[in-house]
Amino acid sequence: SQRKVLVAGGAGYIGSHTAKLLRSKNIEPIVFDNLVTGHRSSVRWGPFVHGDILDTSTLTRALLQYKPDAVVHFAASAYVGESVEDPAKYYRNNVSGTLALLDACRHAAIDKIIFSSSCATYGTPESLPITETTPQAPINPYGRTKLIVEQILKDYAAAYQLKYVALRYFNACGADPDGELGEWHEPETHLIPRALLAANGTIPHLAIFGDDYETEDGTCVRDYIHVTDLARAHVLALEHLVNGGGNLSVNLGTGCGSSINEIVSAIGRIIKRDVPVEMHPRRAGDPPALYTDPTFARETLGFSPEYSDVETIIKTAAPFFGLESRT
Ligand code: UFG
Repeated sequence: SQRKVLVAGGAGYIGSHTAKLLRSKNIEPIVFDNLVTGHRSSVRWGPFVHGDILDTSTLTRALLQYKPDAVVHFAASAYVGESVEDPAKYYRNNVSGTLALLDACRHAAIDKIIFSSSCATYGTPESLPITETTPQAPINPYGRTKLIVEQILKDYAAAYQLKYVALRYFNACGADPDGELGEWHEPETHLIPRALLAANGTIPHLAIFGDDYETEDGTCVRDYIHVTDLARAHVLALEHLVNGGGNLSVNLGTGCGSSINEIVSAIGRIIKRDVPVEMHPRRAGDPPALYTDPTFARETLGFSPEYSDVETIIKTAAPFFGLESRT
């Protein structure tokens, strides 16, 4: 019979791109989403169940109805700053929400889960690049919720024969190369969409948060990974689990860091428009540099990025902001 996956949070940015890719691999994505931050119009590749991750009975019913082979779990709150202001929301949605999902999985005898973790679990690492054995020491509530869920998964795997892959994303960015999906957050806080909003005149300028970091040009360095590459990592993780592979926690990035200044000048070069910028003080809680060692993802999942060069990232993201690339 056809393979099926329940995609919790499948109306969101990374979840919707993953649902589309699953469908293209002949795996039916059943999207479960409360549409608080996700978009109904991004659910186009399979059935939709409107529900909240905290609602175990609705979740259990969906799992019993569709009998998916696995659950891919994106449903979470994901603003670092908001997690400092309102930690209760983050512990509720991200930790209690995952517990509710895991209860539903146990009721419905679903034993495979792929979890959206984050490089935020590493906090400010002592050395670079970040490997999977770099100590995890988050510096904000968001990162702590992701680390706590990783620990819960480990305990559940030991006690209940759950199988899991935790994927620690670096900086998700870019958009569907076919132009059917894009990055759509409200409010938008991420660097590349903010820069494109400045380029198209929606906002007066891009605020650059700090140019006095201990990095080559003084601005923060991040490992930008294209959302379609992240989506493919989920398909690989699913194959890994279905083929009897063991539990894994894997970093997903390119291994290359780009500074804010490098991203801004690449955007200017590729769309042939200036990105108006204004220098601002540092944003609280930003580590100076984060980039991964991509070896473990390659060895365990056979994952290597295909769309994550800065040019492809910008060329796929730009049309969503009414901008054309002109190279
Ligand atoms: N930045 C700006 N101006 C902006 C927006 C961002 O200068 O308007 C800077 C940030 O200060 C940071 C870099 O651009 O140095 C990237 O910022 P993003 O907000 O795009 O991404 P973050 O690295 O802060 O956050 C991402 C994810 C989080 C995750 C985090 C892990 O969005 O969910 O990585 O560190 F927790």
